[in-house]
Amino acid sequence: MNQLEGKKAIVTGASRGIGRDIAIEFARQGADVAVLARSQDLLEEVASQIQETGRKAVVQVADVTDEQQITGAVEQAIADLGGVDVVVNNAGGNSFSSPVVGMRFSGWQKTQRLNVESTVHVLQAVGPVLLGQKSGSVINLASVAGLRGAPMMSHYGAAKAAIISLTRSVAVEWAWANVRVNTLLPGWIETDLTQFLRDAPDGGSGALARVPMQRWGQPGEIAAGAVFLASDASSFMTGQELILDGGLSAMP
Ligand SMILES: NC(=O)c1ccc[n+]([C@@H]2O[C@H](COP(=O)([O-])OP(=O)(O)OC[C@H]3O[C@@H](n4cnc5c(N)ncnc54)[C@H](OP(=O)(O)O)[C@@H]3O)[C@@H](O)[C@H]2O)c1
Repeated sequence: MNQLEGKKAIVTGASRGIGRDIAIEFARQGADVAVLARSQDLLEEVASQIQETGRKAVVQVADVTDEQQITGAVEQAIADLGGVDVVVNNAGGNSFSSPVVGMRFSGWQKTQRLNVESTVHVLQAVGPVLLGQKSGSVINLASVAGLRGAPMMSHYGAAKAAIISLTRSVAVEWAWANVRVNTLLPGWIETDLTQFLRDAPDGGSGALARVPMQRWGQPGEIAAGAVFLASDASSFMTGQELILDGGLSAMP
């Protein structure tokens, strides 16, 4: 049952949504977990759920868009955990929609900072440790929005496409050291990030119209994929994308 027994994991964006479920499921599977985000109160609540499983929890409050903060928090998390085996770059998202013409460039930059640059900062902080010990699994959260055009959300689609490419590059750079790097691509998942769709007049039915399974994915279903990528069950998998989207990306 315990697929991550004895592992030490860092999960960014672990205060809510997908990251929260990943952190708690990792602990249930036997890992000590450092949880990182900006909301200390929510992180403390996740930490207490981790501790209820009998595993160690480390709380690090940091803004992933601030290079100094995120680098310092990751280094402190590794020190407090006593090492690191699994890293999940989950913090990310998108706060607006706009056509390219008329988009404030600061909005474009903010989206790249939150999704892409934060991931680069974490990779640069954990890389030397993972390469030095010659083992590890890194999971970067992208999105099916990064697989094809994302009209009105080009900033987000481009950011997630960059993460897919970044993941492949780093996977090749790190494969010699048995450090695996893969991308997890959720479709529409029921979290705060997608609440605006369920609050829309159609109740979100427009978003679900192209999802063959005709329902929202749950954060726990993404956490199950993260456990697979983090564990030895995926020991020969690197530089790949695991898509969990209810069939959305299979649609013609
Ligand atoms: N939900 C979906 O349908 C969906 C689909 C595809 C991909 N994804 C991706 O999956 C990941 C998680 O999404 P979600 O739906 O769980 O989002 P969410 O519910 O909005 O949660 C986002 C998490 O990231 C943290 N975060 C946001 N900005 C941060 C910052 N500047 N510094 C540190 N932490 C920050 C938040 O914590 P604080 O606010 O406490 O900092 C929170 O823990 C994201 O990368 C998202 O793009 C989601």
